[in-house]
Amino acid sequence: MFGFLKHKKNNAVAHIPKLEVDLHSHLIPGIDDGCRDMQESLTLLQAFESLGYKKVITTPHIMFDTYKNTRSAILRGLDTLRTEAQNRGITMQIEAASEYYLDEGFLSLIKTNELLLIDNTYVLFETSYMHRPVQLEEIIFEIKASGHTPLLAHPERYRYIKDPQLEYNALKNLGVKFQINLNALNGHYGRQAQKNAHFLSTQGMIDFLGSDAHSIKQVQNLSKVFESQAYQEIYKYNTIGNNALL
Ligand SMILES: [Fe+2]
Repeated sequence: MFGFLKHKKNNAVAHIPKLEVDLHSHLIPGIDDGCRDMQESLTLLQAFESLGYKKVITTPHIMFDTYKNTRSAILRGLDTLRTEAQNRGITMQIEAASEYYLDEGFLSLIKTNELLLIDNTYVLFETSYMHRPVQLEEIIFEIKASGHTPLLAHPERYRYIKDPQLEYNALKNLGVKFQINLNALNGHYGRQAQKNAHFLSTQGMIDFLGSDAHSIKQVQNLSKVFESQAYQEIYKYNTIGNNALL
């Protein structure tokens, strides 16, 4: 059973692959609300490695008002992080993209064609939790027009989603991929987010699973998530793309 968990339900045996790639986290020290210093970043990387991850694609925030990170600042931070990780004997691959907040700054960034992508393909983006952006469809269209695939971070967390069936379907029909946060499955972000994550799972709408790790607790909690029924059921209904990013 090396590398696999076996899940038996209704006489059916599903093979649940070990998650080897994380594609959403905040591990570059000091540039957003994630790790505050290099020591903390290395602690989180070591924790990912002990869970069996082989690659993390870390995604610092870019927000016009709050986190004015640039492509070059993120890539410089990645360089330093890689060097320090290597010095600590961490062998996991480390890459960087960004989690783009959907604001006026983002629209102009798309046009520069300098977005940091996941796997040269996906633009990881988030929106306000409370208010559905009026330009949502327009920006999704712009991402696609630039030749990339929009990947919505933690769709389960947006409180403006009132009719999950209708609203998630509408986004899916526009070609948006969904990444849910693993810790949403254990209620870390509240009951509504947990319920939405379950809905997305049973509807087969989940494309990727992310840690969205800002601190060590969120990585440590993953081992419990991996043992949960909610996690194992994801593989009954969804095709998860994480390991294809290795
Ligand atoms: Fe995030």
